[in-house]
Amino acid sequence: MTLPEGARERWVRTGGIELCVAELGDPERPTVVLVHGYPDSKEVWSEVASRLVDRHGFHVVLYDVRGHGRSGVPKPLRGGFTLEKLTDDFLAVVEAVSPDRPVHLVGHDWGSVQSWEFVTVERTRGRIASFTSMSGPSLDHFGHWINKRMTRPTPRRVGQLLGQGAKSWYVYLLHTPVLPELAWRGPLGKRWPGILRRIEKVPAGDYPTPSLASDAAHGAWLYRDNVRPRLRRPRADAYAHAPVQLITPSGDRFLSERLYDGLEDWVPRLTRRVLPAGHWIPRTRPDRLASWIDDFVSSVERERQTEAAGEARGDDAGGPVRKAATGRYAERFAGQLVLVTGAGSGIGRATAFAFAEAGARVIAVDRDAESAARTAELSLLVGAPEAWAEAVDVSDEQAMEKLAAKVHAEHGVVDVLVNNAGIGLSGSFFDTTSEDWRRVLDVNLWGVIHGCALFGRRMAERGQGGHIVNIASAAAYQPSKALPAYSTSKAAVLMLSECLRAELADQGIGVTAICPGLVNTNITATATFVGVDAQEERRRQRRSTRAYGLRNYPPEKVANAVLRAVVLDKAMVPVTPEARGSYALSRFLPRALRALARVGPPL
Ligand SMILES: NC(=O)c1ccc[n+]([C@@H]2O[C@H](COP(=O)([O-])OP(=O)(O)OC[C@H]3O[C@@H](n4cnc5c(N)ncnc54)[C@H](O)[C@@H]3O)[C@@H](O)[C@H]2O)c1
Repeated sequence: MTLPEGARERWVRTGGIELCVAELGDPERPTVVLVHGYPDSKEVWSEVASRLVDRHGFHVVLYDVRGHGRSGVPKPLRGGFTLEKLTDDFLAVVEAVSPDRPVHLVGHDWGSVQSWEFVTVERTRGRIASFTSMSGPSLDHFGHWINKRMTRPTPRRVGQLLGQGAKSWYVYLLHTPVLPELAWRGPLGKRWPGILRRIEKVPAGDYPTPSLASDAAHGAWLYRDNVRPRLRRPRADAYAHAPVQLITPSGDRFLSERLYDGLEDWVPRLTRRVLPAGHWIPRTRPDRLASWIDDFVSSVERERQTEAAGEARGDDAGGPVRKAATGRYAERFAGQLVLVTGAGSGIGRATAFAFAEAGARVIAVDRDAESAARTAELSLLVGAPEAWAEAVDVSDEQAMEKLAAKVHAEHGVVDVLVNNAGIGLSGSFFDTTSEDWRRVLDVNLWGVIHGCALFGRRMAERGQGGHIVNIASAAAYQPSKALPAYSTSKAAVLMLSECLRAELADQGIGVTAICPGLVNTNITATATFVGVDAQEERRRQRRSTRAYGLRNYPPEKVANAVLRAVVLDKAMVPVTPEARGSYALSRFLPRALRALARVGPPL
């Protein structure tokens, strides 16, 4: 593993040793500093660094932590690796590479452990614009986490302690004298590349670096100098003074996800992201990491610019108070980019809010500009770190193409797409004109096709998973003489979802069809009733609005089902008891359902 082409190496002197620092990209651009873990050197970031420079245009800085790679080794070793000294090193590097602007810090493993120190001590305030943490907790937060579980044990908390204790076996070993050094210089050092390949699926290559044995031997002092003292006496004021993005690999063998429970208490502005991967994500998931770092850094930079512009204008810090993401699914969706169509009303608006509450960045699309804008505004208040409104008619292919181009250029690839926009149309087949058919199919089916094609393609090309939710209806499997066109459009959406699910399964993209029954929204008031005059149409609209109001199933429950379906990667979810009942009938007693169809249920 080598540094990407074009890396400029230099030496930074600090505390009597020289640190080897590499820089890539234009120093005028925002600076991202990548700090490596144990037993690695700065080269572990090569893949991420080259993407951050080439695709995302950042100024990227990597350095070998003292005692690692080509950096100098402190003497004596004992006491040479304290978090205080590591903070001195970081400040010296930052002073050399970005003296005038705060940097965006990214740490993995021990690089993250030490970066937590950097972002929570006073002397770095104003030097760090943001911090992205991966697989390395703050020792102070960890100390408090343990204390809480020891002093107020419940069966669950004891289970969590034992769980993390079992994952920390190597930490105990690293505290033994000499043994780790001998192991790394001997059999473990030789087998390490094979172990990483087999267990962590780290791609083969010239990894590890030639300095592995000495990196690993010196790095043992990171543990010995810091772990015990900090866990025994964690700092009480270890609050982050910059926004933090926490990336948690759900398959990490060394760290339990539970370690980050309650992290919001320490980090006022926390974005959580979960990645189905093992511990060495800088090597195994560089695309995903680079795009998440880009999203996060860019949003912090935009905020900084807005604040700077506000300060220049003399604005006060007033305005509506934003709520932090607290939703049930915050761990899963925080920071993700979610696009919802038909987000100006009903199920779409409720879904946008549910994702916002989970901390997602929301794009609210509706053909009605004002209601889309309102949804975006309110999304910010309920927890979305960012929200945008777009006025687009989903049935208009060119408008959708423009929307996709704009979204991809300005915000990146969508993580969750919810094709929700739809219209109601009721009346017998023979009263339904070709124009009526076209209108309902254009919105309810073509709108979904455009969404899947334009946003799904980019999701698939990115190769890092995602999810598409299509709002179909119980009408998709429940025949009715009252809704031939609407039901046909929804049946097509259901089948499209199933086919696409099969096609995208290998790319880690889930596709879900949501099939609600009767939900209390505006759809009844705007639905078209064919074969009757305008007065009768209004009467029917009022009648069905009353009926749906009496049924009173809230769109928020459908929204909750949407988030749950994404988390559980469900193929098809009937929502409301009547939708579940008719689904059961369609599978086990289709004749009964056909008989019901002749009675003609409402929309
Ligand atoms: N309400 C129900 O009982 C029910 C039941 C099953 C399925 N659904 C489906 O749920 C979805 C949402 O419906 P709702 O009940 O929330 O209705 P709603 O009328 O409250 O909201 C629909 C939103 O979609 C927007 N929209 C309509 N056509 C559009 C277009 N061409 N481009 C962009 N935006 C457009 C509207 O402006 C509106 O804001 C629809 O697909 C509907 O078919 C609703």
